[in-house]
Amino acid sequence: MFEEGKNYKLSIIRQESTGMGIAKFNKFPVFIENALPGEIVEVNITKLKKSYAVGKVVKYITKSKDRIDIPCSYYETCGGCDLMHQTYASSLDFKRKNLIELIYKFAKVNSNLIKINNIVKSNKNYYYRNKVTFHVKDNKIGFYKEKTNEIVEIDECIIINPIFNVALKIINKHLENNKGIRKIIMKYGEYTKELMIILDTTKEIDENLIKELTTKIKGLRSLYKFYRNKYKLLYGEEYIQEKLLDKTFKISPKSFFQVNTKQAEEMFKLVKKYITNNDTNILDLYCGIGVISIIINDKNKKILGVDIVKEAINDANINKEINNCSNISFVASNVKNVLPVIKKANKTLDVIIVDPPRSGIDKDSIKVIAELLPKKIIYVSCNPTTLCRDLNVLKEKYDIKEITPFDLFPLTHHVECVCVLNRR
Ligand SMILES: C[S@@+](CC[C@H](N)C(=O)[O-])C[C@H]1O[C@@H](n2cnc3c(N)ncnc32)[C@H](O)[C@@H]1O
Repeated sequence: MFEEGKNYKLSIIRQESTGMGIAKFNKFPVFIENALPGEIVEVNITKLKKSYAVGKVVKYITKSKDRIDIPCSYYETCGGCDLMHQTYASSLDFKRKNLIELIYKFAKVNSNLIKINNIVKSNKNYYYRNKVTFHVKDNKIGFYKEKTNEIVEIDECIIINPIFNVALKIINKHLENNKGIRKIIMKYGEYTKELMIILDTTKEIDENLIKELTTKIKGLRSLYKFYRNKYKLLYGEEYIQEKLLDKTFKISPKSFFQVNTKQAEEMFKLVKKYITNNDTNILDLYCGIGVISIIINDKNKKILGVDIVKEAINDANINKEINNCSNISFVASNVKNVLPVIKKANKTLDVIIVDPPRSGIDKDSIKVIAELLPKKIIYVSCNPTTLCRDLNVLKEKYDIKEITPFDLFPLTHHVECVCVLNRR
């Protein structure tokens, strides 16, 4: 058996759901980062538990044909990306296979009975993120090393929009006089070229930093400090704007917006395709700033959007005005509290769209959604594990018609899915 700290020669048999390689010795699994199926590696055992071990590659004895040179010098320590060592085609293959396994394991459905489409590729694999959060500690700006509170100092990140790297360099220069900054959040409109910077700080922000950011970064439209639990505008507008499928959206500091603009458009095109003219009464749960409601809207529809974040609902109400959608209503509430009220009203619903956070839909809400019995449920998910768990409940009354995975997060193991279910 294995001993912690010792090296072993192992063959990688497959990738587990976060992209790590798995090797087995007498059925005992070893999880190894940066190791691909088919590779033979010398591994140092870094953690030994009762039922599994974790190891680190010390030498690649044979390399996979799917291995590529890693274009980022922080890859080994940062932990933000986990598939940079794999060709794009093979990473997509892994994501789809992983989805099929999760459907079998958690939705407990024979995946042959569901149409699982090919993953929709991203045209852009680098510099695709329109949002970033940097952490600051001990005068260093960077990302937290996975599962630690240790900062990996970053000079430049190759998956975020290049404008963030420009701002990062400026903030870095002024860090000495801004020791209160704990976090830097930036959002960017790919179409509008509008940048928002939020400096989360325990002290006032030095005027020189504000001056350099506002004079040197042309696209800077909105600069906030988040101080004593409040957002305070330091420069520019309260919002940035972004376009999605020709609709305009205002985004405020606290609101969610999909992080990959172009891929989000592909995904919402599909959601729109699933909605027919006969679908008039629609519920858009976890609606954020109202993106899906506004994209699928036409004058015959009655749509109600629900989100727990008040600021997101304020944005959604502004966005419905900008896009002339007076037939949509938005409410700020927990989905869990709104659903029983909707059930009591006893209205017929054609479609319920859900786009929950990674934790999926809570137990009570999923029960009520199934009782509301809409003709169709469209489930947008950023976590296939919770999607499949929830499908296991919904399948009692619904046929899982089709699942389309989208590569919204290239170079990481994450995958977004759109799933359509029809009432049986
Ligand atoms: C993945 S985002 C989707 C937003 C939107 N559909 C979009 O694409 O822009 C999930 C949203 O769920 C909201 N949320 C999280 N938990 C919630 C809850 N219990 N009830 C209502 N909304 C919730 C978050 O505020 C966030 O806006």
